[in-house]
Amino acid sequence: MYRTHTCGELVISNKGEKVTLSGWIQRSRDLGGMTFVDLRDRYGITQLVFNLEINSDLCMQARKLGREFVVQVTGIVAERSNKNPRLATGDIEIIAENITVLNTSDIPPFTIEENTDGGDELRMKYRYLDLRRQNVRSNIILRHKMAQEVRRYLDGQGFIEVETPVLIKSTPEGARDYVVPSRLHHGEFYALPQSPQTFKQLLMVAGFDKYFQIVKCFRDEDLRADRQPEFTQIDCEMSFVHQDDILSTFEGLARHLFREIKGIEFDGPFPRISYDEAMRNYGSDKPDIRFGMKIIEITEAVRGKNFAVFDSAEYVGGICASRCAEYTRRQLDELTEFVKRPQIGAKGLVYARVEADGSVKSSIDKFYSADDLKRFADIMKATEGDLLLIMAGNKEKTLAALGELRLELGRRLGYRDASSYSPLWVTDFPLLEWDEETKRFYAKHHPFTAPKPEDMEYMRTNPGRVHANAYDLVINGTEIGGGSIRIHDPETQSLMFKTLGLSDEEAQKQFGFLLNAFRYGAPPHGGIAFGFDRWAAMLGGSETIRDFIAFPKNNQARDIMIDTPSSIKQEQLDELGIEIKKEKK
Ligand code: AMO
Repeated sequence: MYRTHTCGELVISNKGEKVTLSGWIQRSRDLGGMTFVDLRDRYGITQLVFNLEINSDLCMQARKLGREFVVQVTGIVAERSNKNPRLATGDIEIIAENITVLNTSDIPPFTIEENTDGGDELRMKYRYLDLRRQNVRSNIILRHKMAQEVRRYLDGQGFIEVETPVLIKSTPEGARDYVVPSRLHHGEFYALPQSPQTFKQLLMVAGFDKYFQIVKCFRDEDLRADRQPEFTQIDCEMSFVHQDDILSTFEGLARHLFREIKGIEFDGPFPRISYDEAMRNYGSDKPDIRFGMKIIEITEAVRGKNFAVFDSAEYVGGICASRCAEYTRRQLDELTEFVKRPQIGAKGLVYARVEADGSVKSSIDKFYSADDLKRFADIMKATEGDLLLIMAGNKEKTLAALGELRLELGRRLGYRDASSYSPLWVTDFPLLEWDEETKRFYAKHHPFTAPKPEDMEYMRTNPGRVHANAYDLVINGTEIGGGSIRIHDPETQSLMFKTLGLSDEEAQKQFGFLLNAFRYGAPPHGGIAFGFDRWAAMLGGSETIRDFIAFPKNNQARDIMIDTPSSIKQEQLDELGIEIKKEKK
């Protein structure tokens, strides 16, 4: 028997017992005649003691143990004189009687400690060592618990877990596909699913009624902290439902997860705000509502005083930062630099402070009288000690920039505490998005999303104004999930494809299977998919989903541990009928 107990298990009530433990050497310390060794496994750390006077051979053996050696130790549980309240086993130690080295270890390239000296890339190269670190391991365990709770909740609601294929045909979710060449059919390719969207709809046609799957999805897109090329969705679909049925079912899932994983109960229903309202108030379709500081429009109020920047702007608006009037010149310059970054692209930032006596001092005093400024402050509900930050320009861009500025200020002011959670539903997304470059509409969500029945009349005349029963679950400014009510009749689906610039022929070629299926009694249906990695990261208090994926890719989409993508043998290329183009120098 390798062990009688784990390294996280022994407590004072085990005092006097003879036990055997197996694990890794975390660290060892020689103090005079004593050697203390921390033995680690998945469950915790237990201190072993070797006494030079009592058993010098054994103690000398212990002194030779290197970091990360795998050992088996037998000994007696004793009460520690120097207790460690931070360890579950901190009241005891093992007086070692025997030790067997089960395996040696090279010196690890970084310390296997919570605060390691290893950089990102190094830790990813040796991910199996990184995973030995307690904080990384606990992220993966959190993810495991979430998966169990997701299954428990959805099973309880009558959902059936069905696997869908991975070698499929392109599904348009807005990113590039990863493709797999076919050996049997040269020149033909499978695509890896960006999501199981069409399959879950086919399962509804098949009468499954309630489907879910915890499923890998693949998207070849620019990577960020909250995006990986392969990631996991909690993918769900339901038949005979309206938007409300879906939102209440999955609000239930969210509540269940927060309760079971974090012990958090939310009061009242999650707020629901429309896309238009979110954009207007927060400059974002995924607002962080842990704090207020809503955007307020003042376009009309500031016109006509010969300040060209405001007079010529399509939109002027701002935010009111409470108790920030004291901001120094340097702090204001930093905020100005922040909004001028290329990612945000604003031209500048106007500020106004409400002084202790109620007067308003501003960077645009030249154009506006004291009364004018006071009036703007009133519109923006600013009182003594508040700072107004105002931007002007194209409506969409200015709102987006104000949204970013709001988040940055929220961060600086400590309003974005990772341990508090503010979920909401954003609803009524536009169905389509116009792209100036290609001069065509794109589906805002995906091409299977149904237009709102009341907007159906504009599908042919003014598709840009059509809204959809599409919704996102947003928590703390992160899009955790999104879904929609689907089109379930072939005519509307064909019209949608046409609006997206797909000819009947192309639509038939790409999605004929779905259009055909819709001819055989497709039920009204809708669904949602959650970003499982994102949700795990959020519950773990991090913004980086990589920390919650056992074997992630780096931000160049490489797995540097197994060193892939990598070239394949000429024979494999020949079998696949593929010739690699020489890259032009
Ligand atoms: P959508 O494209 O909105 O919807 O994806 C659903 C959720 O998946 C997460 N997500 C990602 N997470 C990590 N890395 C990525 N690259 C990544 N891309 C998306 C997000 C997102 O909210 N088929 C539809 C769902 C439906 O309509 O039912 C879909 O895939 O959290």
